[in-house]
Amino acid sequence: MRILLHIDDIEAWRDALAERLTEAEIVTAKDPLERRRDADYLAVWKPSEALLREQNQARGIVNLGAGVDALLNNPALPEGVPIVKLRDAGMAELIGDYVRYGVLHFQRDFDRYRRQQARCEWKEHAVTDKRNWPVGVLGLGAIGAKVAAMVAADGFPVHGWSRSPKTLEGITCHHGEEGFSDLLAQVRTLILLLPGTSSTRHIIDAEALAALPAGASLINPGRGSLIDETALLEALGSGEQEGRLRGAILDAFPEEPLPQASPLWAHPRIWVTPHMAGPTPLGEAVDQVADAIRAFEAGKEIDTVDPDAGY
Ligand code: GLV
Repeated sequence: MRILLHIDDIEAWRDALAERLTEAEIVTAKDPLERRRDADYLAVWKPSEALLREQNQARGIVNLGAGVDALLNNPALPEGVPIVKLRDAGMAELIGDYVRYGVLHFQRDFDRYRRQQARCEWKEHAVTDKRNWPVGVLGLGAIGAKVAAMVAADGFPVHGWSRSPKTLEGITCHHGEEGFSDLLAQVRTLILLLPGTSSTRHIIDAEALAALPAGASLINPGRGSLIDETALLEALGSGEQEGRLRGAILDAFPEEPLPQASPLWAHPRIWVTPHMAGPTPLGEAVDQVADAIRAFEAGKEIDTVDPDAGY
């Protein structure tokens, strides 16, 4: 069985996968065409169009990340080939830590203290009890559900939202359009962990931002396409004076790397990080890849991506 592997840090992935699938021949885009062609399976992260086109005989694809938007939007993706994506695989805990940092950043006023420091201003702000700091998590997939649980374990009331109804212990779950407005109206920090699909594009628009309580904050470790950037900048206002939206911590952008000309870089109340919230740790991820390929080989029922839903 031949597997074409494509991801950054390819040597480490190749070694780890070879250890788990001793029967497989693992090739990469760097191998000569006659060696790499006709792969049975693709294990790929953001493959080029050329790479997908050359491998349209593959019988299964493993997406080496949680989000399948880049793969599904690739015009060379062959139709009807089953796709499996990574589920959590250690990413959720890393994203959870990023989010916990972000929530505390606002709840304990680190944003304000940073600006005060620039003015040598010594002024203490009263702490809002975390029990009075509801946090909203949009998206309750493998990652969103775990992140919601981590924030709840820290003592914050957590509201979660998904398209269809869900029940999660310790989380107030909302769903559908009505549930969306209910959640927005009561959270002080909003976390975006929805998949990037045509129905979630710009879900955070001017109307959604206006539905948040004044002084709310936003953390986006999900996808850049979720936010209407013009509406975000409008809600933040300019300069150091806090607008309706207090601040935003952003890890994902419609175009990455974030272009130098983007107004987000220099905004005093936006924190930009370079899509680092949830790097994929090798161990569990490679186990999932090996399991998926074995399931494909054995013709076993396996949880695949729904290309119409986009996740
Ligand atoms: C990263 O953004 C992923 O989808 O895994």
